[in-house]
Amino acid sequence: MKLQGRVAIITGAAAGIGFATAQRFAAEGAIVVLCDVNEARVREATGKLAGTGASATAFRVDVTRREEVDAMVAAVMAAHGRIDILVNNAGITKDARLVKMTEAQFDAVIDVNLKGVFNCAQAVATIMTEQGKGVILNASSVVGLYGNFGQTNYAASKFGVIGFTKTWARELGPKGVRVNAVCPGFVNTEILQTVPDKVLEGMKSSCWLRRLAEPAEIASIYAFLASDDASYVNGVAIEASGGMSL
Ligand SMILES: NC(=O)c1ccc[n+]([C@@H]2O[C@H](COP(=O)([O-])OP(=O)(O)OC[C@H]3O[C@@H](n4cnc5c(N)ncnc54)[C@H](O)[C@@H]3O)[C@@H](O)[C@H]2O)c1
Repeated sequence: MKLQGRVAIITGAAAGIGFATAQRFAAEGAIVVLCDVNEARVREATGKLAGTGASATAFRVDVTRREEVDAMVAAVMAAHGRIDILVNNAGITKDARLVKMTEAQFDAVIDVNLKGVFNCAQAVATIMTEQGKGVILNASSVVGLYGNFGQTNYAASKFGVIGFTKTWARELGPKGVRVNAVCPGFVNTEILQTVPDKVLEGMKSSCWLRRLAEPAEIASIYAFLASDDASYVNGVAIEASGGMSL
């Protein structure tokens, strides 16, 4: 088991890739802390995991609210005395073309996808550097590598996440903390629910595997990066898109 006894915080863990990551980390022996803005769903998801014998705790946390993030981190430290892994997974979309995008759409996505990642990373960074060991993993996207039609706000946030990753890898690497990003292609989760069927078909055919990814296929990349198998991997953004860019 790659993550035996490691304390791992996962944001946006009530559903999709976040929940799949919590499941995979638990299967690898981690003590998982599931955070989500949706309290009912994060409790249900955590209950499901705990029912399989995993060590799992739920926190209702809105990553845009620094005081909620700090309270969660303090509670995890009080319970476990360390934080080994942070997966900054929480993310949202509010799509519109540049000429139609409202300020509210722009601000909401930047707040969750960029400021939320900053809030959580800053809240654990000193703890990890004092431990002399830690891993921070950030959810970017292929949209953070290539841009995407109708996603000005989301693309800016996901490019920004890669900027965070490369900056923190330099700042925290010398203190034993590795920071990496994952750039999934299109993954079969609720985030794609608002995407019209025709566009979904286009997404599948733009990928050389001709299908969407399943959340577990992204969770396995987080598990690798979080583990000592990736002990010399720092500051990278791993694309997992079925070869979309080929
Ligand atoms: N699904 C994809 O195709 C895809 C592709 C590339 C990148 N990603 C990224 O992966 C991450 C997970 O995506 P997903 O498809 O599993 O999404 P999802 O919508 O299935 O789940 C996201 C979770 O984040 C939670 N969340 C939203 N705002 C929050 C906040 N302010 N604080 C805490 N939790 C919050 C939601 O309640 C939800 O449970 C996101 O960052 C997303 O941008 C997804």
